[in-house]
Amino acid sequence: YKTIIEPFKIKSVEPIRFTTREEREVLLKEAGYNPFMLHSDDVLIDLLTDSGTSAMSSKQWAGIMEGDEAYAGSKSFYRFEAVVRSITQMKHIIPTHQGRAAEKILFSIVGGPGKYFPNNTHFDTTRANIEFTGSEAVDLLNEIGKHPEIRADFKGNMDIEKLETFIKEKGPENIPLCIITVTNNSGGGQPVSMQNIRETKAICKKYGIPLFLDACRFAENAYFIKIREKGYENKTPLEIAQEMFSYADGVTMSAKKDALVNIGGFLALNDDDLAMKCRNLLIVTEGFPTYGGLAGRDLEAVAQGLLEVLDEHYLQYRIRSVEYLGERLIAAGVPIIEPPGGHAIYIDAKRFTPHIPPEQYPGQSIVCELYIEGGVRAVEIGSVMFGKYDKHGKLIPAMMELVRLAIPRRVYTQSHVDYLIEVITEVYNKRNNLKGYRITYEAPMLRHFTAKFEPI
Ligand code: F0G
Repeated sequence: YKTIIEPFKIKSVEPIRFTTREEREVLLKEAGYNPFMLHSDDVLIDLLTDSGTSAMSSKQWAGIMEGDEAYAGSKSFYRFEAVVRSITQMKHIIPTHQGRAAEKILFSIVGGPGKYFPNNTHFDTTRANIEFTGSEAVDLLNEIGKHPEIRADFKGNMDIEKLETFIKEKGPENIPLCIITVTNNSGGGQPVSMQNIRETKAICKKYGIPLFLDACRFAENAYFIKIREKGYENKTPLEIAQEMFSYADGVTMSAKKDALVNIGGFLALNDDDLAMKCRNLLIVTEGFPTYGGLAGRDLEAVAQGLLEVLDEHYLQYRIRSVEYLGERLIAAGVPIIEPPGGHAIYIDAKRFTPHIPPEQYPGQSIVCELYIEGGVRAVEIGSVMFGKYDKHGKLIPAMMELVRLAIPRRVYTQSHVDYLIEVITEVYNKRNNLKGYRITYEAPMLRHFTAKFEPI
């Protein structure tokens, strides 16, 4: 049959609170035209992030009851460890409370001034944790990944030639490790091919540099490999994931994405000495190595979620529902990053509202209008988030002006998606009436979270 159904029945529901357009106009104004400041209860469809927003299964909830809360040696830890090991094949599995905690521990140990960390594209927290130690985080994304309008299968790939040139230029002794982020969140949720992971590994091996995967969305990446890369069509997502991890020496993971839980993460690695240092730091910052900042019940939920996320029916539904949203938006003329990514659709605000200059934050304008029009919460990924000022106080805009619609896992049904398509299309049809915004308050760092705006 051509209809791909949600591969689950709904056992527990969370009612949505409806608001009127007039109410939303007041609420958004009170929030300083920044949706981060809205109460989630005032949001109809919340696409702020796919992180920690998954719906858990009945088996995961059963695991919550099963959780062993022993301080040391909890049976929930051993179950978690066994599942993570069965997928990653890593020798040491270290739980953390979320992805950035794994990053913090890893980079505190291997980072420091004068060091460089190449990645296809660093996620913000990865970059921040690297730069916090005085090291430099460098993005070496393949050229095609930088062009929103070009369709290609693996736009998350590392630029292999640039990587080798970079290693020769900086010296392998100054590069403690190399990272591949799957899928490439900051570049539109685009996948990385197995061939690219293999080639990156070969370069790293040649220069004695360990390769780490930032594996938040590893299952989505595995499914893209299955449907797009020759030779993988008959492999299971688990087999593909295992091969991806087989090229890695370590993994950082935010379980809030592809482990289908609301909190959790881990660091996994093969090097005994590094693992010992990580565990020692873990005890200072997160907790004992058999719980690492989590409750035993959280470890149960992660273990179960990792099994469920590799189910082929789930992944087919997941990737297809995001693609469906993208297809319909393209058909309505809405400019998005093509092809649609695994966890999100990224609207290209430069093409959506060409009459609003970057200094007036076109992405923010679209985000505000989506909320007023249909109670939809999205996030600006453009000059509000990444803009800087020159010494005269003039804005240096971000490279791209995007609006991210991140889709929580197993939360919304097709009718929610159809509603979204209507709302976004309506905003697009009225795009010429959209106005720019100016910032009236901003914090010195990470301003997008708390900034206040007013319409121009
Ligand atoms: N790496 C990537 C690729 C991510 O997307 C994230 C989080 C992290 C690391 C950090 O993990 O949140 O558990 O500490 N991304 C979320 C997002 C916040 O909305 O894209 P964390």
